[in-house]
Amino acid sequence: MASAYQIIDHAYDVVVVGAGGAGLRATLGMAEQGFSTACVTKVFPTRSHTVAAQGGIAASLSNMGPDSWQWHMYDTVKGSDWLGDNDAMEYLAREAPQAIYELEHYGVPFSRTEQGKIYQRPFGGHMTEYGEGPPVQRTCAAADRTGHAILHTLYGQSLRNNAEFFVEYFALDLIMGENGECQGVIAWKLDDGTIHRFRAKMVVLATGGYGRAYFSATSAHTCTGDGNGMVARAGLPLQDMEFVQFHPTGIYGSGCLITEGARGEGGYLVNSEGERFMERYAPNAKDLASRDVVSRCMTMEIREGRGVGAKGDHIFLHLDHLDPAVLHERLPGISESAKIFAGVDLTREPIPVIPTVHYNMGGIPANYHGEVLNPTEGDPDRVVPGLMAVGEAACASVHGANRLGSNSLTDLVVFGRAAALRAGAVMDRSAPIPSINSAQDDKILARFDRLRHANGSAPTAKLRDKMQRAMQEDAAVFRTQETLEAGCERISGIWADLADVKVTDRSMIWNSDLVETLELENLMANAITTVYSAAARKESRGAHAREDFADRDDVNWRKHTLSWIDDAGKVTLGYRPVHVDPLSDGIDLKKIAPKARVY
Ligand code: FUM
Repeated sequence: MASAYQIIDHAYDVVVVGAGGAGLRATLGMAEQGFSTACVTKVFPTRSHTVAAQGGIAASLSNMGPDSWQWHMYDTVKGSDWLGDNDAMEYLAREAPQAIYELEHYGVPFSRTEQGKIYQRPFGGHMTEYGEGPPVQRTCAAADRTGHAILHTLYGQSLRNNAEFFVEYFALDLIMGENGECQGVIAWKLDDGTIHRFRAKMVVLATGGYGRAYFSATSAHTCTGDGNGMVARAGLPLQDMEFVQFHPTGIYGSGCLITEGARGEGGYLVNSEGERFMERYAPNAKDLASRDVVSRCMTMEIREGRGVGAKGDHIFLHLDHLDPAVLHERLPGISESAKIFAGVDLTREPIPVIPTVHYNMGGIPANYHGEVLNPTEGDPDRVVPGLMAVGEAACASVHGANRLGSNSLTDLVVFGRAAALRAGAVMDRSAPIPSINSAQDDKILARFDRLRHANGSAPTAKLRDKMQRAMQEDAAVFRTQETLEAGCERISGIWADLADVKVTDRSMIWNSDLVETLELENLMANAITTVYSAAARKESRGAHAREDFADRDDVNWRKHTLSWIDDAGKVTLGYRPVHVDPLSDGIDLKKIAPKARVY
């Protein structure tokens, strides 16, 4: 089969797949150290989904009042509902200030205080005094376009350091060696239809999340979990896929994000009785409780008949009491989004909002250096040689069962940087770039060719719609055994239907029908592991809220889920322990021990 397609070869020390915040920070870090570095991306770098990140990036700079990395770590541990790995969470909180100063020096145009320091706003779940004190201003912001500012800066810096970009190349699959090591990746160049084989000493997956497995998501349409799909097809596991975050304030109807920074600047939620109901559920943090908590409370208000609108099926977010000058300066982006997507002038009216899929805590198991793991019973931390994963594609596990708002951009830059530092430490600069297992080419291109010529009766869009509706209905904010088992059955049925998929365009150039079909296969690997992992976890933790198992069960379930999927769509589950040891003695273990999670 490989012979049917002409292959163009490339060889680099490092190939990064994906050009969002994590991919670009890894690319920059690799290139700065003198590694020959290629970044392969299906969209132009500054159009990656990081561009949509609004509210900011968390780091304990203490610019607006007292803060410490220990408080930040504690909040992250508590936010994760004690499923995150303590070493990774310590690394995130401790390294965050340095990572921000680096961004500042690279040129990110952060908003400023009167004194010229980086402006920081409050965000959900970020508190003072190990959660005992009031909310802290920890989230560094460039107005409400922080991701946009970071992405443009990192792209410019990567070019300056001679990283090479392969733009609008769709990565098909990883090339895995006979000893389980990664040797490179094969990609399809969308604008001229050529096939490219990238050999590398290190492949870094930075392919983002899979929000588009759901019907309504804040994620871009490009968020199709491509790296996760590639890893699953390589026979490696995914981790903690049951934990899917709903952001409290997606615009009702369109799903477009209204940043949590809106509540950080003083916005609040009300029900149909005009009540600020979060005061009842979270007396200390109120509207700034963590996302899983706020999303559940909104859903309960709606279910109990206190939703707003003609159908009583959403909630209002008020910003109309704030000074229009503040809205103009700090929240210009959402002022525009509210107007375009909800027809609302937020200086006068509330914005209709609803919890909307926003982030995947699960993904490719990795350690805090970014190295991908292929755990065995005897070695739960076994590293896959030549393969790293960073950003939302990875599960480090730094967010555990629930991510705190503004810890995502921190994750991208801290672990993108960490991967580059690790590569600098472990890669042998004098070693040749390995030759590849060419038997893999046939397998990868046979799959590509099969989909390109797929002539069944089910159009890709129809199967995708079925998948998105099943996920939306059966793997929602609240879950039961019944809904999750229904979800397993529906998604397994769609997996079987993939054999009958119909692709109408057979061309190799700008074939969006084929791109969407490849993306659908990737989404399905994510969707099926999500529902089966969720049906198996018989407790409530973070974003996984079971009505039939309402409590967290640390005795039986403080462990990471691993999920493998075979070609026939059979999901196999396993588990690996949570890392409870922090990295340093700067942390008081008693302070971060599991306890009831209240805000
Ligand atoms: O609400 C927001 O601005 C989103 C931030 C995040 O997901 O970290």
